[in-house]
Amino acid sequence: MFKKRRESLLEAARKNGCNIVASATPQNIFYTTGFWGDGTVIIKEDGTSLLTNPLEGERAKKQAKDCDVIVSKIGKSLKDLVLEHISSKGKVCFDDVKMSLQFSIKEALKDNVIFDPNLFYSVRRIKDEEEIANIAQAGRIADKLYDYASVIIKPGIRERELAADLLAKAIKSGCDLPFYASTQNPIIVASGPNASFPHADLTDRRLSDGDFVTIDLVVRFNGYVIDTTRTFALGRVCDEAKKVYEIVKSAQEIGIKTAKPDVVAEKVDKEVRDIINAKGYGEFFVHGTGHGVGLDVHEPPSLRMNSKEVLQKNDVVTVEPGIYIPNKFGIRIEDTIIVSKGTEPFTKFPKELLIL
Ligand code: GLY
Ligand code: MN
Ligand code: MN
Repeated sequence: MFKKRRESLLEAARKNGCNIVASATPQNIFYTTGFWGDGTVIIKEDGTSLLTNPLEGERAKKQAKDCDVIVSKIGKSLKDLVLEHISSKGKVCFDDVKMSLQFSIKEALKDNVIFDPNLFYSVRRIKDEEEIANIAQAGRIADKLYDYASVIIKPGIRERELAADLLAKAIKSGCDLPFYASTQNPIIVASGPNASFPHADLTDRRLSDGDFVTIDLVVRFNGYVIDTTRTFALGRVCDEAKKVYEIVKSAQEIGIKTAKPDVVAEKVDKEVRDIINAKGYGEFFVHGTGHGVGLDVHEPPSLRMNSKEVLQKNDVVTVEPGIYIPNKFGIRIEDTIIVSKGTEPFTKFPKELLIL
C-alpha cells in the first residue's frame, strides 16, 4: 500500500521534472509511512527515509513502515538532518513547509527544489480500499453518535453538555478528534438562533421546546475523517423551519445524486443551489455545497460555484447544503460520500425530520 502511494507520488513529481518527493506535513508522513508526527519523509526511487527528532524517535521506529527511520542527535536540529539527506543528486518536490525550513532548503538546493502543496493532495484525492474502510468505520461511529444524540437531546440540556457527552462517546468508540482551522471545536452543537451561524461556537445555551439543533460531527478513525451533520427538532417547532428542513433535505438528495464520476464540481453546487434559490432562500445558503475529506477535514476537490475540478471515482466529498436565518434558526444536512456510479453516503442515520 505505501509502495503504491509512494510510486504515485514519484510519478506525479516526474511531471514537474523532479525525482525526489519530500514532506514535513504529518498527514503526508502518515500517508506514506503510517507514522503521524514531527519529521520529514523523503521518498526516492531507491527507498524512503523518515527523518525525525528524539522526541518522536521511538514512536516513529515502531509505527513507520518500509522505510529507514533516522533520528537526529539530542540538541541537533532536525533541519540540519533534513539538509544533509536531501542535498543528494536530483530535484526535489517538497510540499508546503514552514517558511524557515523553506528558506534553508531553497538556499541549500537552489534550483534543485520546487515547493508544491498540491502534489500530495492530487494523489491523496482518490482514496484506496484501506482509506475507504477507515472512513466507513468513522461513518458507522458517527451513526452511533447520532443514535446517542437522539436519546440525550432534551429541553434543558446545555449545548456544551451535549457536545461533551458526544466527544466522550466518540473517543470511547475509538475515534480521535481532528483539528481544523475554521472552528475551535471539532463538534458543532448549535441550537435555536445559535444554529444560524454555520460554524457556531459552543455556548451554555440550554435547549428548549421549539428549537432546531444542528450537530456537525467531525471525527477521525485511524487517521481518516468523517464530516457529517444532522439537524434535530425539539418539541413544537414552527412551520417555517419545518418547510426549510424539507428544502435542505431535497437539495441534499439532489447533490448526492449529482456527484458522479466525470461531473464538474460546480454542477453539484448548481443543482443544490437551484433548488434553494427556487424556494426563495438562496441568500441564506451562504457557503459552498461541499469539499473533499480524507486525512484533512477540508481538502480538494471543492464543490462550490466556479469549481472546475472534475469529480473522479473514489473521490470522497461532502454534500452539505444549509439555510441559515439570522437570529432565528439554521438547518444543515451533511453527508460524506464516495463518488462512484451508485454514490452512497458513509453515514446512514435517517434524514427524515426527527422531532424529539
Ligand atoms: N464541519 C465543517 C464543515 O462541514 O465543513
Ligand atoms: Mn461538517
Ligand atoms: Mn463539511
